[in-house]
Amino acid sequence: MRKYFLLLISTILFQQSNAAPPGQKILLDFNWKFSQSDTIGADKEKFNDSKWRVLNLPHDWSIENEFDEKSATGGGGGYLPTGVGWYRKEFVLPKTERGKNVLIEFEGVYMNSDVWINGHHLGHYPNGYMSFYYDLTPFIKSGKNIIAVRVDNSLQPNSRWYSGSGIYRPVWLYISDLLHIAHWGTYITTPSPDANSAIVVIQSKIENRYSLSQSAILRSMIVDINGNEVAKTETSFTINANTSKDTLQRISIPGPHLWSLEDPYLYTVHQQIINKGKIIDEYYITIGIRKIEYDTDKGFFLNGKHIKLNGVCLHHDGGSVGSAVPEAVWIRRLTILKEMGCNAIRTSHNPVAPAFLDLCDKMGFLVQDEIFDVWRSGKVKYDYANYFDQWSHHDLVNFIHRDRNHPSIVMWSAGNEIGEQKQEKGYEVLRALIETFHREDNTRPVTTGNDNIAADNGMAKIPFLQMLDIVGYNYVDRWHERRELFYSIDKQNFPNWKMTGTESVSIPGVRGNYYGGNFFSIDSSAIRPAFMASVIRAEQLWKFVSSHDYVIGDFMWTGIDYLGEARWPSKNSSSGVIDLCGFPKDGYYFYQSQWTTKPMIHLSPHWNWKGNEGKVIPVMAYTNCDSVELFVNGRSFGIKSLEFPRQGNSGAWNRYDRPQINTTTADLHLIWDVPYEPGTIKAVGRKNNQVVCEEIIQTTGIPESLKLSVDRESINADTRDVAHVKVEILDENGLTIPDANNLVTLKIEGNGKLIGFDNGNPQDHTSMKSNQRKTFNGLALAMIQSNDKPGEIRVTATSGTLKNAVIRIKTIETIFPFAKY
Ligand code: GAL
Repeated sequence: MRKYFLLLISTILFQQSNAAPPGQKILLDFNWKFSQSDTIGADKEKFNDSKWRVLNLPHDWSIENEFDEKSATGGGGGYLPTGVGWYRKEFVLPKTERGKNVLIEFEGVYMNSDVWINGHHLGHYPNGYMSFYYDLTPFIKSGKNIIAVRVDNSLQPNSRWYSGSGIYRPVWLYISDLLHIAHWGTYITTPSPDANSAIVVIQSKIENRYSLSQSAILRSMIVDINGNEVAKTETSFTINANTSKDTLQRISIPGPHLWSLEDPYLYTVHQQIINKGKIIDEYYITIGIRKIEYDTDKGFFLNGKHIKLNGVCLHHDGGSVGSAVPEAVWIRRLTILKEMGCNAIRTSHNPVAPAFLDLCDKMGFLVQDEIFDVWRSGKVKYDYANYFDQWSHHDLVNFIHRDRNHPSIVMWSAGNEIGEQKQEKGYEVLRALIETFHREDNTRPVTTGNDNIAADNGMAKIPFLQMLDIVGYNYVDRWHERRELFYSIDKQNFPNWKMTGTESVSIPGVRGNYYGGNFFSIDSSAIRPAFMASVIRAEQLWKFVSSHDYVIGDFMWTGIDYLGEARWPSKNSSSGVIDLCGFPKDGYYFYQSQWTTKPMIHLSPHWNWKGNEGKVIPVMAYTNCDSVELFVNGRSFGIKSLEFPRQGNSGAWNRYDRPQINTTTADLHLIWDVPYEPGTIKAVGRKNNQVVCEEIIQTTGIPESLKLSVDRESINADTRDVAHVKVEILDENGLTIPDANNLVTLKIEGNGKLIGFDNGNPQDHTSMKSNQRKTFNGLALAMIQSNDKPGEIRVTATSGTLKNAVIRIKTIETIFPFAKY
């Protein structure tokens, strides 16, 4: 975990040390006024907002409210209210910036926003996920300016999952010379690099807003992670008044440091426009030099190395913080996914925050960047289908321009489970989208997630599938004999298709709940039937995917639980192998056993089954060891092993490919049937006959004390940094009680505040902003955000007569990496 934080900090410092001229990229997130109601006249410059609440962006007002079964969003939106909200922000433009080109960019406003500056209406924008910007140049004044934003999320339902409401991502001001590179106007590719050399191709769209033609120089430098310039080129250009022009530069880099999953090395492209010897504008774009290839029979290659996409689908919310997700939350979540062995993410089903893609670049993930959940044919009444005809081309072009320099993105997805897949002329809509993708970025293939490929009714149409660069399968094992044969039927019939799983069943469930929460079901049905059904399905699918190179990979649904798409009393989906707090469920360890090699064993269920002594409990293990021996209170229950793929003979019969193991199962998990007796279960894992790991579960006693632990002992003292505090309930021996549900109260003192407190229980309706919550199956998680001051945050947890716990987090002074107004 530490490595990624260091990485993050070093990147921020690096950007700082190369700081752009003052005023070029300014964060506009601080001291906004907010009202959670529709207000007449709030667009006017002179409107009196003195009574409105003052807050910093990003902000999601839905998550601040109570869960309510009657909420208009219904299960889709996680039973949280939406409605209309207004934001206003006053800022001062220094005189020195007068006459410059000024843009305002909103990274994400959900949804239907209208923006005004000084009472002038800049525009209306429906899409709640895509970033958008307005030209402020004609309307901005030196001195005081007022931005007003109306956000309308009142038409419900408009989403199948939790969207959040408000300006939930950062807002930026870009100030540049009238001669400048257009916003999202630089496109950088690295065709066919290898360890010896790389060509970096830089295409820049330069705009001249002067009323005279201009001659200048575009200088582009490649800078390594230590700030050293490794290559440079300069191009002179002349550009007519009020026009724009594309320039093309090629820079060769000998011995490039390639971007890979293990070593996600990033360079910065530093661009300057130089007019009469003076630098009038500067830009910094992060790139990774890497080669991607897709082979019909052999799958995906990164820098010539075959990689199976061990992927997960993710939605955009961050659990208790809703859709306004601080970067530290995604750093922790992605770190947990990386430890599972996940190497690929599908951003289902909408444009994600640019900061999320930056993290994928820095941490080494492969991304399938998806834009739409619907095209013209909708799924819920007020969804994007209402806007598709008018807006989709604009949104798609901006989406590609915004995202195409990220090395992590290796594939585009034009949509998820699109209705048009099964329509006679559906391919016509697809064709227009694909043409745009190919025109704006010719380096990545385009897929869609198709759920109807072999459907009984409304099968996906072949011309539609054939148009895709890669055919994406949602739930490939859903239809008839495909449960056993998976992709092989289509591989026979369409040998030229490239294929990937875009969405598949994972091992869902509620963390720490066994036997549906009712112990009596142990008597009736041997092992947790619903859970085991998904275990078997996930195992079968993975066996096929991992042993067939032509299947590029798989993205299971989902890596992490997400708000919404639930039925009351649940408020969030439990499809994840990680709960809303980021705590792994048992299914997490299935993927870890298949996707990682560091020796591991995970045992389930817990061992607190008082009153059921003598009843048989199947004890299950996921492991990547050769064998596991299980001991119950010191007595061996036998050695078991699984092996996949199974080895055959080589050279002669009875000579095995590697030392023979007597496998006991063809499953990808091990099970021992153990009559319950309280005590200790120990699992001992061996590789090559050496003990390489151990795992213990124990019967625990009654709650005695609280424990707090924090993922980072010190955080930055700026308002964006977040520490995660884990709450546990311990017994008299200091063991975490895996089924303890005790009400905990938190007190936060010093230089920070609580921004979310949750326990991962889908049916807990306590507000995410409350400082009181029950632990759920032993755990809860608080997110604590620093305020601007260096010093300390003190977190105290109390729970009735249990012994208190206190933890301290340092807040360290850092230079804020961006200018702010
Ligand atoms: C899929 C869909 C996802 C989600 C999932 C729930 O078909 O693509 O967005 O709805 O089902 O199981």
